[in-house]
Amino acid sequence: MASSFHCLLFCSLVLQIITTTPSLAKAASFRPKALVLPVTKDPSTLQYLTTLSQRTPLVPIKLTVDLGGQYLWVDCEEGYVSSTYKPARCNSAQCSLSNSKACTTECYSSPKPGCNNNTCSLSPDNTVTRTGTSGDLGQDIVSLQSTDGFTPGRVVSVPNLLFTCGSTFLLDGLANGVKGMAGLGRAKIGLPSQFASAFSFHRKFAICLTSSTNSNGIVIFGDGPYSLLPGIDVSEQLIFTPLILNPVSTASAYFQGEPSTEYFINVKSIKINDKAVALNTSLLKIDSEGYGGTKISTVNPYTVLETSIYNAVVDAFVKTVAEIPRVKAVAPFGACFDSKNIGSTRVGPAVPAIDLVLQSESVYWRVFGANSMVAVSDDVLCLGFVDGGERPRTSIVIGGHQLEDNLLQFDLAASRLGFSSSLFFRRTTCANFNFTSTA
Ligand SMILES: *[C@@H]1O[C@H](CO)[C@@H](O)[C@H](O)[C@H]1NC(C)=O
Ligand SMILES: *[C@@H]1O[C@H](CO)[C@@H](O)[C@H](O)[C@H]1NC(C)=O
Ligand SMILES: *[C@@H]1O[C@H](CO)[C@@H](O)[C@H](O)[C@H]1NC(C)=O
Repeated sequence: MASSFHCLLFCSLVLQIITTTPSLAKAASFRPKALVLPVTKDPSTLQYLTTLSQRTPLVPIKLTVDLGGQYLWVDCEEGYVSSTYKPARCNSAQCSLSNSKACTTECYSSPKPGCNNNTCSLSPDNTVTRTGTSGDLGQDIVSLQSTDGFTPGRVVSVPNLLFTCGSTFLLDGLANGVKGMAGLGRAKIGLPSQFASAFSFHRKFAICLTSSTNSNGIVIFGDGPYSLLPGIDVSEQLIFTPLILNPVSTASAYFQGEPSTEYFINVKSIKINDKAVALNTSLLKIDSEGYGGTKISTVNPYTVLETSIYNAVVDAFVKTVAEIPRVKAVAPFGACFDSKNIGSTRVGPAVPAIDLVLQSESVYWRVFGANSMVAVSDDVLCLGFVDGGERPRTSIVIGGHQLEDNLLQFDLAASRLGFSSSLFFRRTTCANFNFTSTA
């Protein structure tokens, strides 16, 4: 009897949903071309943070931006209250989209977000501290602002966005108030792919990080224009290079045969002042175990180089600027200079350009002083690269400081990166998106 009562209730619910569908469809008929999230830089951790609204009722969730991260994960253990949370059942379509091959058959507690029977599970990572755990795959509503590429527009919602439940301890090492990580990696359940499929726009997104800790940079999901004040469309004049797939996952735990969701590019050499630095070029290739190569990361504040590459780059740089007096190195950097002896230019301190040479000699990512040098005090400028040790998983990790005030566009369908180099040349910065909305 109980079950037929259940069915009655369920049937009336289904009917209600069917009868309310037309108005839902109408509400969804506004189809955004792109979405925008503001990104701030946390001064104490140097993490890049954004805020997404999630759950019913909606709450703003502060997240650390993880460019190569597999998906969105949030702490479900503490304070997750939502009437629209749904666990993703084992063997469901959601589960197979996530590539999960693990199932939590039973959770020994009363059901709540992150603890349900028959739910598929994944391994969320804190990529800052390199800590992982296991967590349930779930779905909930997320809302954010749309954009025409010039200013923010109407708020839109994605009703069943897939994400993974992390645990409270997994937040250790993330900035104050952060509740999870926004994974922008190339997985099918990465945020870029989910937003693109929710609104049928191109599987492209752009990030533009600001060095300022009191203004906003952006992530824009979707295609350009990406207009920055005073009216400069930085989606034009990008330089393109293929994105490389690392065939071996770089996550802390993964299923056999899973590729990495991070964004790798093919750096073939490094030039300083147009002169090639002698490097062991086999370190620049990704080997069959997934070691080596070059990736782009927002969770490393500075570019990290394998020891022999680091030494070669620092030596070459120091030789090139031999006339500038060196001062005692300030950790984590190895080469620091008296800034009184370094002039300044529109693109930062006047130091030799560092080129990451890509698929051919004529295609390179030029790093100017604003991105190569770090002002550690009023009088000291350091070369902003750090030593990653011997045999690190990835030989070159291009980090946050080197990405700031450069726009990067990731085209997942074409597996291609577009980059602007320093926006200072174009007389704008990543803090120049017009967030002043008339709405
Ligand atoms: C899972 O199923 C077991 C056995 O039926 C039950 O005791 C337990 O409460 C359930 N847990 C959840 C989270 O639903
Ligand atoms: C270059 O790097 C590869 C990969 O780590 C290593 O096997 C090889 O011994 C290195 N060669 C030299 C000359 O150091
Ligand atoms: C920013 O956008 C608003 C709304 O469209 C507009 O009124 C304002 O003039 C813009 N600001 C600038 C500096 O262009």
